[in-house]
Amino acid sequence: MNRKKLYMQNAIDLAIKGKYTTSPNPNVGCIIVEGNKILSKSYHCKSGKDHAEVIALKNLKKKVNKKMVMYINLEPCCHTGKTGPCTKTIIDSGIKNIEIAMLDPNPVVKGKGVKELRKNGINVSIGLCKNEAIKINEDFITRHKKNRPYIVLKQAISTDFRITNPKSKWISSNLSREDSHFHRAESCAILIGSNTVRKDDPKLNVRLSKEKLLVSGSIRQPIKVILDSRLTLNINRYKVFGGKTKKIIFNSVKTKSDHKRNIDYIKVKKEKIGLDLNLIMKILANEYEIKRLLVEPGKELFSNFLSKEIFDEIIYYKSPVFVGNSGLHNMNTKKSYLKNKFLILDSVKILSNDVKIRYILKE
Ligand SMILES: NC(=O)c1ccc[n+]([C@@H]2O[C@H](COP(=O)([O-])OP(=O)(O)OC[C@H]3O[C@@H](n4cnc5c(N)ncnc54)[C@H](OP(=O)(O)O)[C@@H]3O)[C@@H](O)[C@H]2O)c1
Repeated sequence: MNRKKLYMQNAIDLAIKGKYTTSPNPNVGCIIVEGNKILSKSYHCKSGKDHAEVIALKNLKKKVNKKMVMYINLEPCCHTGKTGPCTKTIIDSGIKNIEIAMLDPNPVVKGKGVKELRKNGINVSIGLCKNEAIKINEDFITRHKKNRPYIVLKQAISTDFRITNPKSKWISSNLSREDSHFHRAESCAILIGSNTVRKDDPKLNVRLSKEKLLVSGSIRQPIKVILDSRLTLNINRYKVFGGKTKKIIFNSVKTKSDHKRNIDYIKVKKEKIGLDLNLIMKILANEYEIKRLLVEPGKELFSNFLSKEIFDEIIYYKSPVFVGNSGLHNMNTKKSYLKNKFLILDSVKILSNDVKIRYILKE
């Protein structure tokens, strides 16, 4: 790997450190180099806090000179959001050379940040380690390009593809369950169907320590999203409706906010099977700024996501247990799926006696 690539990869590695906390913002890392020496490093860690470029410039112990190069994995912003435009800070700093891995897909920035930098005499190169940069912000990109969150479907399955086992509460091992909490932590929201609330009464929270997640400050708990068409679930009975975390109940009855319990009820159209998933995804992306959604589906919900082909990944935690006919199959096997798209294997990981299999959906 040449030096320039090495520096950009360094910025990308830094960006990843923010993945449990940056939402709805993208993961951004920045380094400033002079000759062969890295002078400053930083990453964006929380929406409303300084962006990576601003921190890197603040941390720089030396006066800016013409030889310095700034490496950033994403185009700097040029608008005022919760913080000011990074382009202004960069221009004011006197930095004259910038390497950017990719343009920002957010329409308020896309290309405009680069234009402003160049207009102010800064040499900007785009595209170094672009594929690696896309990978670490696939959720942010999906939200802006597809107007929906990046959707991960996660199930624990037995060898014979059962998702329930009458003989045991859990299908997968302790290690698999701990691993799945990293996916919860990474997600802005977790979505389940009404039957899973009824049968499992899950808390739907992240149960990992700050040390395990390597985050400072408090752990972000994902928004809990429940699909309950006829509002038949008793909110005083199930754990998922308790606590301070925001809850959203999509239904076909009413739109209302219960501020005391932090529950938003949102009425959406009912389709032949269940609530309109496309509309729900649009609402989650636009009104709640959800960039990454983890779905923990039962048979019905999983089948419906597959039928509609609106998801990006499937993660299976496959245990060696054989359940047999007494367990619920993970999907409706009478249907056929993925007529227009296909899955490719992304990775396989051994977790004690289980195997974690990660598939990516391709067009
Ligand atoms: N092993 C695992 O990883 C895992 C994960 C999750 C669940 N489970 C198990 O799965 C079982 C529940 O599965 P399930 O198939 O009975 O139910 P489910 O998939 O959890 O929920 C389905 C219900 O959600 C509601 N819904 C609303 N909109 C929907 C839509 N667009 N598509 C699909 N459903 C929609 C419907 O109920 P309304 O008409 O009331 O709205 C529907 O009956 C439980 O026993 C649980 O333990 C296992």
